[in-house]
Amino acid sequence: MQVFQEIHSCFLQQRPVDQHLSRFFRRNSQFGSRDRRWISATIFGYYRWYGWLKQLSEQQLKLALLLGYLLDGNEVNELTLHWGKQLGFEADWFLRFESHSSLDLEKKSKIVAEFIQDSTVDSLNPNFIPKLDLQLITSLQTRPHLWIRLLDAQNQSFPKFLDKKGINYSAHPTLKNALAVHAPVNLHESMDFKKGKLEVQDLSSQIIGLICKPQPGENWWDVCSGSGGKALHLAALMNGTGKIYATDIRHQALKECAKRMKRAAWKNITPQVWDGQKLPEALPALDGILVDAPCSCSGTWRRSPDIRWSLSKEKVLEFAELQFNILKQVAPVLPAGKTLVYATCSILPEENEQVIARFLKEFPEYCLLPMTHPLTGDITTEGLYLLPPEVDGNGMFVAALTKR
Ligand SMILES: C[S@@+](CC[C@H](N)C(=O)[O-])C[C@H]1O[C@@H](n2cnc3c(N)ncnc32)[C@H](O)[C@@H]1O
Repeated sequence: MQVFQEIHSCFLQQRPVDQHLSRFFRRNSQFGSRDRRWISATIFGYYRWYGWLKQLSEQQLKLALLLGYLLDGNEVNELTLHWGKQLGFEADWFLRFESHSSLDLEKKSKIVAEFIQDSTVDSLNPNFIPKLDLQLITSLQTRPHLWIRLLDAQNQSFPKFLDKKGINYSAHPTLKNALAVHAPVNLHESMDFKKGKLEVQDLSSQIIGLICKPQPGENWWDVCSGSGGKALHLAALMNGTGKIYATDIRHQALKECAKRMKRAAWKNITPQVWDGQKLPEALPALDGILVDAPCSCSGTWRRSPDIRWSLSKEKVLEFAELQFNILKQVAPVLPAGKTLVYATCSILPEENEQVIARFLKEFPEYCLLPMTHPLTGDITTEGLYLLPPEVDGNGMFVAALTKR
């Protein structure tokens, strides 16, 4: 309860819960891996179902946390049974949560209706955005798998490592380098990870790299590279040839990018701080630009359910302005006939097609390029949303443009 109070006060101040929880565990090393897993599952379950659970009173906090844990499909174990007993629930009460994976929203809504006044789908929809469709909101109530990008699709040693640990996994049916891991794994124990033979990278994020389709020997500018998730993917797609300029406003993120480059022995990435203002020096003639823009991260609500409740319309519009300004800065740099890929991990049109529409109006020399959906092979001449359940990852938007 004390852990939760600390985390919840951070949530109320609109600070990201995952970062705070990691810091909490670093400070409190007495918690073993089992406790950590249980605490994390309880906390994330609570925020995933916050639209319902916030209706319970402070005195019912224990019940709210237990319901969040169970609604999220976590296993009923001794700890949970003990907790339930304190609240007056016997073991058979838990049976209603059995086969949780097949429980749809309607069934879950019925289960909690005895405690919660409004357990409708609408109350899971943040009120500042239009109603999301039922399929999408149902997906938002589930966690995506941890996705790995294997450098070599034929890699046998990592699956063997997972087999040895008894961890289930599955290869993506279409993206041969993508592997979903179905249970928590300590990657620092894997030689492949230590040698940079794999990266943790969300499935949608892997699709963005494939849409960029960089060719060996090309020059790319990854404008908002952060810690290099996509820059490393571009480097792999280019077989370590050509050049990638990885810029970001955050020095610390670029340090992490440099660490990951070193681990994978990529020599073709140049990290450099850029604040979105004056153009960075030493940019060569570019073949492509990737703007993986800062955004509301509304597409990551499955992994970070707390941020769904701290977003506002004003914040979304501020991001839209920043996104447009970054595009405006980079627009003059792209040579005619080359590619500009714009991506966000937002599911909100204000940050996606509306930014692109504004950009195309102000820069009429740009036009949209047709894109092939890497999973379906469908060709689209507009922006593309990568959304669960079709893509079991973060929700993302991507558009490809070129200069006439
Ligand atoms: C979506 S994240 C990038 C993730 C990264 N591309 C990856 O694949 O791991 C957006 C990045 O934009 C950076 N950013 C925010 N404001 C910026 C600005 N004004 N100019 C440049 N980068 C900025 C953030 O620091 C953040 O790392």
